[in-house]
Amino acid sequence: MKVMVTGGAGFIGANFLNLLVPRLPEHQFVNVDKLTYAANLGSLQAVEQLPNYMLRRVDITDMEAVDAVFDEVEPELVVHFAAESHVDRSILGPREFIHTNIEGTFNLLEACRKRWPADAGALFHHVSTDEVYGSLGETGKFHETTAYDPSSPYSASKAASDHIVRAYHRTYGLPVKITNCSNNYGPMQFPEKLIPLMILNALERKSLPIYGKGLNVRDWLYVEDHCEAIWSVIERGEIGRTYNIGGDSEKRNIDVVDTLCEVVADETGSDVGELLRLKELVTDRPGHDLRYAIDATRIRQECGWEPKETFDTGIRKTVKWYLSNEDWVRDVRSGEYRKWIDLNYGDRTT
Ligand code: NAD
Ligand code: DAU
Repeated sequence: MKVMVTGGAGFIGANFLNLLVPRLPEHQFVNVDKLTYAANLGSLQAVEQLPNYMLRRVDITDMEAVDAVFDEVEPELVVHFAAESHVDRSILGPREFIHTNIEGTFNLLEACRKRWPADAGALFHHVSTDEVYGSLGETGKFHETTAYDPSSPYSASKAASDHIVRAYHRTYGLPVKITNCSNNYGPMQFPEKLIPLMILNALERKSLPIYGKGLNVRDWLYVEDHCEAIWSVIERGEIGRTYNIGGDSEKRNIDVVDTLCEVVADETGSDVGELLRLKELVTDRPGHDLRYAIDATRIRQECGWEPKETFDTGIRKTVKWYLSNEDWVRDVRSGEYRKWIDLNYGDRTT
């Protein structure tokens, strides 16, 4: 099968490709990625030489380029990760989020609609977020039937894209599936997100900035568990259906940071007190959702998926990964990997 993975050089997309490309040599994987600041080709070293992997640098907001890569690849499965993904960036500059997350998704759907006959057995899998549901209070969980109520330009753009994907199924019969997942963490996550930022700042003895009072709650899931969940829905989920994904691992941000200080101290033989003293409460994020929690009963029952990692095992793996991948960290921090992308791809067209 020919599989187009959009955004495969980002955090979750790269973990997805690292898991599946070696496991499924009979499938041809094509990574379609604009290579924005969030992309890192260093995350794909394990697969880039494999015969069933290719990269095409494409901006999904460019319909001509999308058509060209669809004509070249003729995908039967599209797994759509590509997005602007960081909430704080969406608050500072929402335009790119509307452009990529809404128009980019629309372009991909149009490309599929033009090419896939009703009986083609093809699939558009849309990777989305629990943030479309907005904020929970102290109790309750998000279900697949929870009304959408997004708070940030990021989550509103993802909500819009989910609606368009669903509309293409209902209106044109396009075969689609949607997954809405909670917060991911793990190897190769860009250090703008809470967990890698705190790990790297703790290692450099920089301040650990916690928004508000640190009482906001997120439901954390190890990234490989998310990738396996997506694959289980692709294999066993029902066309036209939505599946929530989460790890039953609700934590307050302040507790996440405390745990990270303890694990970093333990793994590096440092004084945990010194790391804990780096914590600093800072101005809150505007529109900051209080709490996310996922009811993942549907995917567990219908697709037989279960997460393998607990928060404790996943966090330790993650800290160890950042400690033992100094080159990746140095290149991201220094911007070196960007130079490589510009050098190697700057004048190329796809
Ligand atoms: P990321 O920011 O790490 O990576 C995004 C990737 O998309 C990058 O490789 C980037 O180059 C690419 N991209 C951005 N704009 C593009 C464009 N116009 N054309 C082509 N490629 C483009 O994101 P992530 O954290 O890996 O998230 C991947 C997907 O999963 C997103 O759709 C996000 O909404 C969703 N999601 C993320 C989380 C999370 O916790 N990170 C949780 C649930 C869902
Ligand atoms: O829930 C899924 C979503 O999780 C994904 O859809 C998004 O793409 C992903 O970025 C993530 O969004 P969050 O905003 O929850 O993740 P972030 O890592 O930015 O923040 C996690 C929590 O930590 C949040 O409550 C804000 C807080 N925070 C974050 C940063 C970067 C801090 O307190 N300090 C910080 O410096």
